[in-house]
Amino acid sequence: MAGRLEGKTAVVTGGGAGIGRVIAQKLSAEGADIAVADVNEAEETRALVEANGRRFLGAKVDVSDEDQVNAFAAEVHEALGPVDIVVNNAAIAMLKDLDSTSFEQWKNLFAINVDGYFLVTKAFVQDLKDSAAGRVINMSSSSYWEAPPMFLAYVSAKGAVNGFTHALATDLARWDITVNALGPSVVRTPTTLRELNDEFFAHHAQLQNLKREQTPEDVANLVAFLVSDEAGFITGQVHLIDGGLIRR
Ligand SMILES: NC(=O)c1ccc[n+]([C@@H]2O[C@H](COP(=O)([O-])OP(=O)(O)OC[C@H]3O[C@@H](n4cnc5c(N)ncnc54)[C@H](O)[C@@H]3O)[C@@H](O)[C@H]2O)c1
Repeated sequence: MAGRLEGKTAVVTGGGAGIGRVIAQKLSAEGADIAVADVNEAEETRALVEANGRRFLGAKVDVSDEDQVNAFAAEVHEALGPVDIVVNNAAIAMLKDLDSTSFEQWKNLFAINVDGYFLVTKAFVQDLKDSAAGRVINMSSSSYWEAPPMFLAYVSAKGAVNGFTHALATDLARWDITVNALGPSVVRTPTTLRELNDEFFAHHAQLQNLKREQTPEDVANLVAFLVSDEAGFITGQVHLIDGGLIRR
């Protein structure tokens, strides 16, 4: 059976690990060729994408560096051609409050978690305009609504991602490009496993309506739907995918 993304090409930032890797795997299973921009190697992602029979380009890119992002776009065009889907996923977390956050740390987090989304989208926007069904996905977080302690810069940056999503959806609507954000709650990934223990994951699951841990597949499944032709009338939304944690 043909997948929902046959003939499409997707860029996934931070696709070398964590949720981004599973998104790359899922989109390739649906038929898309994949380009990953990550500060680290993405060889495990390459293996997963190529196992699905799709083409893969992995490049070492810091999404907060304009020159690196533009060089990546040129490399993607050369290797895979124009892009239909941009998934802005690369981000860092920082467990700090106002007192413990330096201005340098604040600016560095915003450079990756916000400027990176802007730069990557801008680098591929002409492709999205030329595509029959251009799609942008921005990874946000349910933590924007929870605002847990010690996440000052991270939560603030996710607020900016939500605003970027709303405004960009308006901006790009005349090309029928949809722009959506996703707000997962807590998923086991290299970053969360560094900071959180089993007890925290178990406790957090109990706060949700659905009392199980969220998986990266939960997130990737929603991304695959939102970038498909089936979701062509859904735009400008932040989709919470959190097992019923936040009731807005
Ligand atoms: N894991 C969670 O519980 C959770 C919850 C809500 C939202 N999110 C969001 O989902 C996204 C993915 O999170 P994750 O937990 O999989 O993260 P992760 O740290 O496991 O993976 C992030 C990837 O981004 C890459 N990266 C980091 N800085 C980069 C940069 N400057 N340029 C390019 N690549 C860079 C890393 O090398 C890594 O491969 C993020 O936007 C995060 O804020 C995660």
